[in-house]
Amino acid sequence: MADVSGRRDEPLVLGIETSCDETGVGIVRGHTLLADAVASSVDEHARFGGVVPEVASRAHLEAMVPTIQRALKQAGVAASDLDGIAVTAGPGLSGALLVGVSAAKAYAYALGKPLYGVNHLASHICVDQLEHGALHEPTMALLVSGGHSSLLLAPDITSDVRPLGSTIDDAAGEAFDKVARVLNLGFPGGPVIDRIARDGDPDAIRFPRGLTGPRDAAYDFSFSGLKTSVARWIEAKRAAGEEVPVADVSASFQEAVVDVLTRKAVRACKDNGVEHLMIGGGVAANSRLRAMAEHRCEDAGIVLRVPRPGLCTDNGAMVAALGAEMVARGRAASAWDLSADSSLPVTDPHVPAPPGAQDHDHGDGHDHDHAHGDGHAHGHSHDHFHELSKDNLYS
Ligand code: KG4
Ligand code: ZN
Repeated sequence: MADVSGRRDEPLVLGIETSCDETGVGIVRGHTLLADAVASSVDEHARFGGVVPEVASRAHLEAMVPTIQRALKQAGVAASDLDGIAVTAGPGLSGALLVGVSAAKAYAYALGKPLYGVNHLASHICVDQLEHGALHEPTMALLVSGGHSSLLLAPDITSDVRPLGSTIDDAAGEAFDKVARVLNLGFPGGPVIDRIARDGDPDAIRFPRGLTGPRDAAYDFSFSGLKTSVARWIEAKRAAGEEVPVADVSASFQEAVVDVLTRKAVRACKDNGVEHLMIGGGVAANSRLRAMAEHRCEDAGIVLRVPRPGLCTDNGAMVAALGAEMVARGRAASAWDLSADSSLPVTDPHVPAPPGAQDHDHGDGHDHDHAHGDGHAHGHSHDHFHELSKDNLYS
């Protein structure tokens, strides 16, 4: 029988994601997904029309241990078999990130495994390895979610990610959520608009395409004007006592967002001589975005990769995927005083221990390229254990 748990010599890594409202725990072996457990607090936020940070943090705290246990069970591996523990160190909601970082430290510390604090955005890119195999580098990435909309050039997903542009106001997913609210479609808005738009005419209303003028920043996005324009259009209809054509508004709004996203992504590839584009983040689940991107990439000779919707939204598998890549490429682990950084720059795919700082051991048998190894070959020495204060674990 084929070995379904991946090649034994590839790193086995558990990843924890808590940057927003999803408590995600994934386990991968190299590029093979073994477990993807997610507990979402989205229902608890729905009545507020957006994610409430305090509610999210509390939900992470409650879900963390059961979700880790569920992932280990799903993967059929023991925690002691892991080669490392990866966690989203940022960007994201501080309180929410802190729960994941504290849990990752506690597990890594207790198990004697290396800890990798990784970047949420780089993880969104790396997750595609679980679906389509090794990333082609350099790759262009269009990341679109409720919290971010960026174009990134990644020559090396573990060490070199360059921001080309991002939204100057609302994120793409945020625009979907806000328009859905005006249309009384509930939260999150993206999936509902996607579904309703299938029955609408995308050319019914010509909504504005932000930042697409000749003098506008080529790779930046703006969705606030579009959102306002849609809201005004609906208000005018209501004021006139006319029925709002929800399907046409949804389809026309979606068309405006998707047109701008794909146009700019293809242009970024062409301008930079990059032939591979990946699209990630929650909005990458959008069916019209997938279709238009496929069409435009084909015309431009660009190879397009989009992970399946379940891997596009926030999850732990993406963090594990990037962690496994860090281990495979011998990147330095993080220090025990790793902190959650709500605005971790995308240029930091991970947070290595500072040079010269005392790093923890690697009992994983992999060959690590450390500038600052501490000389122990396997597991934690007791001295090392005592050097670490409890405060450090929760800093
Ligand atoms: O990546 P994600 O799960 O969380 C963030 O980091 O934000 O993305 C969630 C966002 C929400 O704004 C949601 O409305 C949007 O992704 N979304 C979609 C679709 N599915 C989720 N937007 C458009 N079409 C979809 N099918
Ligand atoms: Zn995300």
